[in-house]
Amino acid sequence: MNRTESLLPLSENYLPVYRQRPMVLDRGQGSRLWDVEGREYVDFAAGIAVCSLGHGHPALLAALTEQAGKLWHTSNVFHSEPPLRLAAELVAASRFASRVFLTNSGGEANEAAIKLVRKRAAALGRAPEQRVIVTFKGSFHGRTLATVTATAQPKYQQGYEPLPAGFRYVDFNDLAQLEAVMAGGDVAAVMLEPVQGEGGVMPVAPGFLAGVRALCDRHDALLVLDEIQCGMGRTGPLFAHWHDGVKPDIVTLAKALGSGFPVGAMLAGPKVSDVMQVGDHGSTFGGNPLAAAVARAALRELSSPQIVANVAAQSQALREGLLKIDEEFGVFSEVRGRGLMLGAVLRPEYAGRAAEMMALAGDAGVLLLQAGPDVLRLVPALTIADADVAEGLARLRTAMAGFAGR
Ligand SMILES: Cc1ncc(COP(=O)(O)O)c(C=O)c1O
Repeated sequence: MNRTESLLPLSENYLPVYRQRPMVLDRGQGSRLWDVEGREYVDFAAGIAVCSLGHGHPALLAALTEQAGKLWHTSNVFHSEPPLRLAAELVAASRFASRVFLTNSGGEANEAAIKLVRKRAAALGRAPEQRVIVTFKGSFHGRTLATVTATAQPKYQQGYEPLPAGFRYVDFNDLAQLEAVMAGGDVAAVMLEPVQGEGGVMPVAPGFLAGVRALCDRHDALLVLDEIQCGMGRTGPLFAHWHDGVKPDIVTLAKALGSGFPVGAMLAGPKVSDVMQVGDHGSTFGGNPLAAAVARAALRELSSPQIVANVAAQSQALREGLLKIDEEFGVFSEVRGRGLMLGAVLRPEYAGRAAEMMALAGDAGVLLLQAGPDVLRLVPALTIADADVAEGLARLRTAMAGFAGR
């Protein structure tokens, strides 16, 4: 019995909410991973758009080990240096926020945003039924009860009813529909991802964010941007909404903020930064010194001009490579997304077969993701090198040759 065979039965102890490949990852370096049998993979998944600096980045390792030797945890009842500095650095980097709430995950950051929206509406004297949050079909905002309700996809909600009240859903990129549902004046916030991730890698249409901002201003509603997946340089600039030149009221971050260490943040602009007061919200672990130390290093690295340049270059290379694969095998109808958040949309005749392709890609030695049943999602490290992109594409081509032959 090899190590994989001895380890895999242990997965029976998990609540079976994921279907993992039958392999066990052991170590990583840059954009390569090795399983416990020593088999090597090109990593186009990056821990679901998390490990944006690749695996084993020396700056992150140094930040973590230095902090590990000093102080692990204080709770938020006491100050420590890393979260104090991280909050200041996020405020400065954001160009809009005046305060930050640190969390352990994206779901918690969005939960904090939802609570902040409600609290502000309450402070303005709005009755509970006047505190509606509008979100968009195809969105993904998390798995807690409120964030899964914000997630306008029935498949994530089914069976968890009763869901919290006060959410309303409209079609993504449909400004007229949004205008109509806001007309009654009961909307407290509009919440969206500048590039929808789980919903199929779908960017906002040109002008859409500016239109949403204008409607929010007209109705005194808050603009909440979930940049948990698309932020932290994934689309090029540090924040995805910088492409659109709008100023949000709240932005949520997680995933790449810790580049592999769990941490999230809710950034609050001037309209909402004084709404919550002592005792109104909290978290035992949020912004713990280890997480904050790593996030500071990640933020510094991800803000560098080299990252922006590499995202643009590798995005282009991946797009071209995917289109070449399509020319050969006729599998994709479109390659969409921004920067290194790319979705290869399957042609209608292959609808529903993304999981199968992903498995074949894994067999060929390249790890990627799906975004729904019809889209292959590529979200590699923002530091990925030319050779890794070329090798990953070559392996994906092999997988697609196998798929086409089925
Ligand atoms: C856009 C977006 N929001 C929120 C979340 C939830 O984050 P977490 O899984 O860290 O709770 C995710 C996770 O995929 C996400 O992509």
